[in-house]
Amino acid sequence: MKHAPVRTRSIRVSLGGRSYPILVGSGVLADLGHHAAELRDVTNVIVITSPHIASFYVSPLQRALSESKLPFEMHLIPDSETAKSEPVLFNIFHHLLRFGADRGSVLVAFGGGVVGDIAGFAASVFMRGIRWIQVPTTLLAQVDSAIGGKTAINLKEGKNLIGTFYQPNFVLSDISLLRTLPMSELATGFAEVIKYGMIEGENLFRYLEQSAGKLLQGDPRVLGKVVLESSRIKGRIVSKDEREKSEIRMQLNLGHTFAHAIEREGGYRKISHGQAVAVGLLAAARLSYLKGWMKASTVERVGNLIRLVRLPAKLSELGLKPEVVIRAMEHDKKKKKGVLRFVLPKRLGALVVTDKITPVQLKLALR
Ligand SMILES: NC(=O)c1ccc[n+]([C@@H]2O[C@H](COP(=O)([O-])OP(=O)(O)OC[C@H]3O[C@@H](n4cnc5c(N)ncnc54)[C@H](O)[C@@H]3O)[C@@H](O)[C@H]2O)c1
Repeated sequence: MKHAPVRTRSIRVSLGGRSYPILVGSGVLADLGHHAAELRDVTNVIVITSPHIASFYVSPLQRALSESKLPFEMHLIPDSETAKSEPVLFNIFHHLLRFGADRGSVLVAFGGGVVGDIAGFAASVFMRGIRWIQVPTTLLAQVDSAIGGKTAINLKEGKNLIGTFYQPNFVLSDISLLRTLPMSELATGFAEVIKYGMIEGENLFRYLEQSAGKLLQGDPRVLGKVVLESSRIKGRIVSKDEREKSEIRMQLNLGHTFAHAIEREGGYRKISHGQAVAVGLLAAARLSYLKGWMKASTVERVGNLIRLVRLPAKLSELGLKPEVVIRAMEHDKKKKKGVLRFVLPKRLGALVVTDKITPVQLKLALR
């Protein structure tokens, strides 16, 4: 089926001198060179990507950068979470130097959250910080990880333990890059999009309910709208609370206290982040119901939407028991010497942070 092109729209993340635009549209990759050249006094451009992603897009990427007449190079990193590591990071630094990178160089993160996190971290510390551009190629990266400037690598002791807050100079979200994304990866993005629907309220949530079928088919118009709205919400939250100093940026953790424990207990390979977040979102809605806040009919809508995009809604569908997940959450709490805090939806569009949850309520929410 042929689709009409998605009109390019721009959103601004307002952070004073660190403000930047997010451009969303189909085919915006073609403008990468033009936008890179607009940054002042650029010496060269170095693209960080993976062999898998490059296998689809090396030609359009090279075409886009050739337009700018800026010298450019490409550096490939491995294609998995294990790439967010010390050896891969230092290899990036050595290659940057080999490419003649200096303080005027611009790094391009061309990939999903893995590429974005490590390339952003490299940009933030190479020569005390060089400019960088995010070109997210997964739905999760377009709606979430490419916005907000959180960068990181993992240590053997845990995920994202070393990182910085370092905003990109702009984000180019090209919807047409999602065409080659496997359904399992699209689904991970859907879970985050449902989260934004719950954060934002009735309008976006109803749009998702009505468009779930088209979303599943990868309809670029629906994907375009969903990426745009999600970017707007994330951009707004980041603008208000860049460094997660208040409860504002915590809103983005809706469903994630459950999800992290589910992922860990399920083994990261068996249960995807999207599946874990989907189950976590319904658990958060049910917990809110048990607290007397969310209406039963709204909880049902959350469950239905999750199922409409073919994600699991209940823990039992992942073969896990509530006790195991609760134990994992308790363990996490002890490790951080803190209390278990949950972001809960009082209703669609109204979130609350609470630590007043009983073990019985937790168990019921996860059943
Ligand atoms: N910085 C943040 O704020 C933030 C937020 C959320 C998640 N993250 C991080 O993001 C990472 C997960 O990111 P992800 O879900 O994008 O996964 P990912 O980067 O591992 O990519 C998933 C898979 O999709 C492939 N892929 C990427 N783009 C493709 C395309 N257009 N066509 C075909 N295949 C493509 C990749 O090669 C990879 O195999 C985690 O490391 C997580 O910690 C960071």
